[in-house]
Amino acid sequence: MKKLVSLALAAGFAMLGASSAQAISEAEINDDITEFQGFFLKRFPGLAPGDFVDGVNALPQYAHRRANWELLMEFPPYEPEMEKAAEEWDTPFANGKGFKDCDLAPANIYPVYDAASDDLRTLVGDLNACLKANAEKPIKNVKRGKMARLIAHYKAQFNGEPMAVDFSEAGAQAWYEKGRQFYWAKRGQLNFSCADCHVHNSGNAVRGDILSPGLGHGVGFPVYRTKWSLSGKPWGTMHRRYGGCNKQVRASPFKAQGVEYKALEYYEAVMNTGIPLKVPSQRQ
Ligand code: HEC
Repeated sequence: MKKLVSLALAAGFAMLGASSAQAISEAEINDDITEFQGFFLKRFPGLAPGDFVDGVNALPQYAHRRANWELLMEFPPYEPEMEKAAEEWDTPFANGKGFKDCDLAPANIYPVYDAASDDLRTLVGDLNACLKANAEKPIKNVKRGKMARLIAHYKAQFNGEPMAVDFSEAGAQAWYEKGRQFYWAKRGQLNFSCADCHVHNSGNAVRGDILSPGLGHGVGFPVYRTKWSLSGKPWGTMHRRYGGCNKQVRASPFKAQGVEYKALEYYEAVMNTGIPLKVPSQRQ
C-alpha cells in the first residue's frame, strides 16, 4: 500500500513537471503487477483472482444486488446481439475474404506493442486496418455498436485464456509508464484519479454505485450495459467506459483509440496479467 501511495505521488508529480516518461524496467513492471494484485486480494479476502472477472458483481459489498444479476444471466440480454455479431463476422467482404482472414493476435495479448511503428495495436485498430486493407470502409464508431459486437465475437473465442500482454521491449515499457501515470494522476474538477475510485475506494459506494476493483478491469469488455441499453446503444468498449469515467469527475474525455486511452488500456491489461477473459459481460 505504501508503494501504491508513493506511486500516486510520483504520478502526480510527473504531471506537474517532467513531460518525458521515465524509463521503467521489466522487473519493476512485474513488481507493480504483484503489488497491484496483492492489494486487491488482501482487500477482498473472500475472492480468488479468477473471481474478479465479474467486476463489481463479484464484490461482497454488491451482494444485495447480485441475485438480480444472476437472474439476468439465466437469459443474458446480450444473447441475440451475439448472434447478430456472429452473422456480421461471417459476412464476406466484397473481395470474397472476411474477418476470419484478418491478421489478429490472440485476444488475451492485446494491446500489442509494435516496435516498427512504436505504437500499440488494439483489437479495434486491427479490425479497422483489416477492413481498409481489404478495400472495405473502416467502422467509424469505435466505441459501441458493430465494432463492439465484432470484438465481443472475436474475444469470446478466447474465454478462459489468462491475460498475457508482452512488456519486454523498451518501447512497450514507455507506453506502460504513460498509462500508469494517467491511472494515478488526479484530474477533473473533482480532482480524482482512476486509482482514487478503483483502488483506494474499490468496494465503497459513490452516488449509489459500488466501485469495482481495478483488478478485473477489461477482461469482460466489451460490456453490454442496462444503462446504455435504455438509449438503444447497449454495447461499450473500454474506451467508451473510460470516457464515462473521465466525465464523472468532470474532466473532458479523450478520443477513443487516441494515445491516452491506448496507454491506459495497456496499463490496465498489464495489471490484469493472469486474469482470464470472460466476454461479453453484462453490467448495470
Ligand atoms: C469518481 C469515481 C471514478 C473515477 C475517478 C473513475 N471511475 Fe471508472 N467507474 C466508476 C463507476 C461508478 C463505475 C461503474 C461501477 C463499476 O464497475 O465500478 C466505473 C466503471 C469502470 C470500469 C468498468 C469495469 C467493469 O468491469 O465493468 C472501468 C474499466 C473503469 N471504470 C476504469 C476507469 C479508469 C481507467 C479511470 C481513470 C481514467 C476511472 N475508471 C475513473 C467510477 C469512477
